Amino acid sequence: MLTGDSMYVCANQLDNLPFMLPHAAGTLLMPRLEAAQQPAHLAHTTSSHSLPSGMTGSVLVSGGLGDIGRLAGQWVAAAAPRSHVWLLGRSGRAAHSMSSALAHQLGHISMAAVDVAVASDTNGLLGQLTAVGAPAVSGLLHAGAVLQDALLRGQTAASLRAVHAPKVTGALRLAGAAAAMPLQGAVQFSSLSALLGTPGQSNYAATNAALDGLAQEW
Ligand SMILES: NC(=O)c1ccc[n+]([C@@H]2O[C@H](COP(=O)([O-])OP(=O)(O)OC[C@H]3O[C@@H](n4cnc5c(N)ncnc54)[C@H](OP(=O)(O)O)[C@@H]3O)[C@@H](O)[C@H]2O)c1
Repeated sequence: MLTGDSMYVCANQLDNLPFMLPHAAGTLLMPRLEAAQQPAHLAHTTSSHSLPSGMTGSVLVSGGLGDIGRLAGQWVAAAAPRSHVWLLGRSGRAAHSMSSALAHQLGHISMAAVDVAVASDTNGLLGQLTAVGAPAVSGLLHAGAVLQDALLRGQTAASLRAVHAPKVTGALRLAGAAAAMPLQGAVQFSSLSALLGTPGQSNYAATNAALDGLAQEW
């Protein structure tokens, strides 16, 4: 990764990581961890107050039928009652068991079977939103992900693609589909593995690093 050198990072060495490394073509920037203080103005607020004020319209939550996506979708729905949350997943299976409970509880959550890595699916979703008279997309929460762990020698092109597709291709498809929409906010769910790596998850670490790069463009 670093011009052929290996780098071993222990927790107590994080402070010693340089911000910038010399690179043949100029300066290579490196991400690094820093201890952060919670900003004073957020110290006594709840998470619901951190949403963009007046969030309205349709909010798409990829991976919305998974653990974190579902919680994030419910959080948006509760905190921004003028929004309509769409929980997206390829199977949509969980939608059937959850839909009545959530719809009864919140009244403005829907589910849709969508593979965010497939252009016809994301474009079809926009058509579906239009058909049911849903408001324009105002928010994206991208939590769709797949794991396919293996040690490096066991990784294949297929295992790289499987993990890359939902996160990176999915992010591009969602951003493309919403390009003409009045977006008020977008969140990508990455992972610390992009910075530190995790055993057996080189494909996941690389994918999250790519997602972090894309976030600079969103
Ligand atoms: N859980 C953690 O500790 C943790 C830590 C750091 C980061 N994260 C990140 O947080 C996000 C959510 O994690 P999670 O633990 O909630 O994962 P999860 O429970 O496995 O949920 C992921 C969801 O993504 C959906 N999905 C996969 N491929 C998709 C695609 N192509 N299009 C649409 N949906 C797709 C899956 O549903 P279908 O199979 O029905 O498509 C699944 O419900 C991920 O990005 C993950 O990398 C999680």
